[in-house]
Amino acid sequence: MKKIPLSRVFLTEEVRKAALRALNSGSYILAKECEAFEAELADYIGTKHAVLCSSWTAGGFLLHRAMGLKVGDEILVPSHTAFPSIEPMIHFGAKPVFIDINETYCLDVDLLEASITPRTVGILPVHLYGHPANLDRVFEIARKHDLWVIEDCAQAHGARFKGKCVGSMGVAGAFSFYPSKNLTVMGDGGCITTNDSALADDLRMLRNHGRKSKYIHEAVGYNYRFNEIQAAIGRVELRNIDKLNEHRRRVAARYTERLSGVVKAPPEKEWAHAVYHMYVIRTERRDELAKHLQSKGIGTGIHYPVANHQQPAVTKLYPHLPKLPRTEAVVKEILSMPIYGELPLEDVDYVCDAILEFFGKQ
Ligand SMILES: Cc1ncc(COP(=O)(O)O)c(C=O)c1O
Repeated sequence: MKKIPLSRVFLTEEVRKAALRALNSGSYILAKECEAFEAELADYIGTKHAVLCSSWTAGGFLLHRAMGLKVGDEILVPSHTAFPSIEPMIHFGAKPVFIDINETYCLDVDLLEASITPRTVGILPVHLYGHPANLDRVFEIARKHDLWVIEDCAQAHGARFKGKCVGSMGVAGAFSFYPSKNLTVMGDGGCITTNDSALADDLRMLRNHGRKSKYIHEAVGYNYRFNEIQAAIGRVELRNIDKLNEHRRRVAARYTERLSGVVKAPPEKEWAHAVYHMYVIRTERRDELAKHLQSKGIGTGIHYPVANHQQPAVTKLYPHLPKLPRTEAVVKEILSMPIYGELPLEDVDYVCDAILEFFGKQ
């Protein structure tokens, strides 16, 4: 039987050679490959700096620390996102104030202002599934209320909002290089992009035990460093990201064309250039459909079946959070289809045939 995975890494001879080159170089942590990868990432995203760190979550932690997040601060964030989006802020005693989503699965900007209180310090929009959040409105509200904006770009490497790469517009952008992401380093990894040079300096210092020189520690920091082998791999992945993203867009277009009228396809706004980290359909018969696809060798996923405002770790801290009707409805109906930068279009057709068969349309 055919086997179609939900995602697959881009692994070529060039990637293997790059890893071997770094392995044989004799330098392993924060050396030449890391420096080059940081410069290339900053250039690609369009920021002055990119600071590599050991994961998105580590980067989020460094950011909140460097920006002085305090106990009782409030941050506006969608509930419909990966749990790590809210983990670092909770470690600092800050409260995630959950915002419902709109049809793009990103936060509904029309709901932001009503959730602002004197304790609100920032907004953390998530460019979920590779579709940018509506940043114009986010920044308008942030400016009006003197809030910072950190973009969660974990699923959106190369996605653009009105022509600009996500991660270049907020005070900082946070990226993940986990193996399922559009850009991976074949393990855990992440980076923070920013135009703020003082912030970038602080992040670099904090990720490396709070030091700027070898033996002097200016702050009590962390070990959230990056390594040469993964940087060498990431550099090859970065050279291929546009090609891989364009193919993801072709895959998405094929799904949308073949499945229209059968399941709800993800929308792409006219101001968005989405990079389809996920291709997420909606159907009331989600669980049955997933089983049917599994029986045909097709991998699917649910991102995410339990919204963050309903996670036990969160309700223990905040038992009386308001309901989010759209989020609570979509988590029961969403199903992620196989998609990656080299997925053959005939495999997409195989998936579409199986879906049409399930709904009796073929
Ligand atoms: C939207 C989002 N934010 C944050 C993260 C956390 O990334 P990492 O696993 O690199 O810490 C992920 C990855 O799971 C994610 O999808």
